[in-house]
Amino acid sequence: MTRILFVDDEPNIREGMRRMLRSMRNEWEMEFAESGETALATIEQWRALEKPFDVVVSDMRMPGMDGADLLARVKDMSPDSVRLILSGHSDTASIMKTVGNTHQYLNKPCDPDLLKRTIKRAFALRLLLRDEHLQKVVGQIGSLPSLPVVYQEVMTCLQNPNASLSDVGKVIAKDVGMTATLLKLVSSAFFGLSKPVSTVERAVSFIGLDTLVALVLGQGIFKEAPPISVPGFSLEKLWHHSLETAAAARLIAGEQGLDKVALDDAFLAGMLHDIGKLVLAQSMPDVYGVVLRDAGVGFTAATEYQRLQTTHADVGAYLLGLWGLTDAVVEAVAFHENPGDAPTQVLGLPVIIHCADRLARFPDQTNPAHEQLSLDKRCLDGFGVREHWPAWQAAWLAHLAGADK
Ligand SMILES: [Fe+2]
Ligand SMILES: [Fe+2]
Repeated sequence: MTRILFVDDEPNIREGMRRMLRSMRNEWEMEFAESGETALATIEQWRALEKPFDVVVSDMRMPGMDGADLLARVKDMSPDSVRLILSGHSDTASIMKTVGNTHQYLNKPCDPDLLKRTIKRAFALRLLLRDEHLQKVVGQIGSLPSLPVVYQEVMTCLQNPNASLSDVGKVIAKDVGMTATLLKLVSSAFFGLSKPVSTVERAVSFIGLDTLVALVLGQGIFKEAPPISVPGFSLEKLWHHSLETAAAARLIAGEQGLDKVALDDAFLAGMLHDIGKLVLAQSMPDVYGVVLRDAGVGFTAATEYQRLQTTHADVGAYLLGLWGLTDAVVEAVAFHENPGDAPTQVLGLPVIIHCADRLARFPDQTNPAHEQLSLDKRCLDGFGVREHWPAWQAAWLAHLAGADK
């Protein structure tokens, strides 16, 4: 059973919530608290009985401890709990305070179906990542670090009074960490966007320059990466590879005649596909260093799995799902190493990211054996990749030649 704690100071809202969610009582064990202080005591009490809460849903505005302070405490006490905040639109400024401590924001009054869907989805993600230690580690991540040189560039850009939204967007889009952090913010239902946002450009124009400056310079939502010393791991290389994979994914999607939304999703999923490597290198440098060292050039997701019982694909997908990114992107990240295992067995985003990753990693091999590229055999034959591959490869080589000019 999923255990959920709802926190709201208004008795009517708690009662309404109770009634609204009665149909879930066979799947969810629900507790209700009237203040932040009571919520913390309830969490403590159940934790002592070894029944921690899987999800905490809190109102933002409450007398005494508000939702932002409460979720900051919950993050420390119970890092693997999924943390959701409910808030009215007038609270945009205070919501900004919760950015690092909240996984998703929901609009108040909340649509019961949306709330059910959000909780079910967040919880279903746990199947991806069964290791409790890693669930805690990933649950605590509020934002991802940025490449120092790009971070400095964004800071300079934001402090320049003549910089436009598009200038800022272009710099942010060069960085994996900032892209993920920004999309986390705008993907939440709180902002009430009718369509999911999958480009940095749209995310930036939606948030607006003033709020972005407040978030970056005031709240420090972007962080410069500290040096990560894991043998075999390079932040610069990961960034470079992510940008290349994103470009190759958009190119393949274009070759397949997909629409603009699919092209944007392909680019975003390509950009974020290996984000789990960054999480692993940052959170367990010693263990991950050994995995990378033992695997050497023969590194695959299978070698990771042997040692960690999980892969960078699962870790990345879990994080992005927790942050409310779209199912399409989360699925592509989860299955980019083994698209043959994806639930949708078509030439879709997981296959495109898988192939884009290989194109980005092996650009020089004009006629390599598919085995050498370690392309998933099921997708080679099952999804017709074998026939498309020469055209994709030619397009990629042409793209690289054009980029060199
Ligand atoms: Fe990967
Ligand atoms: Fe990759």
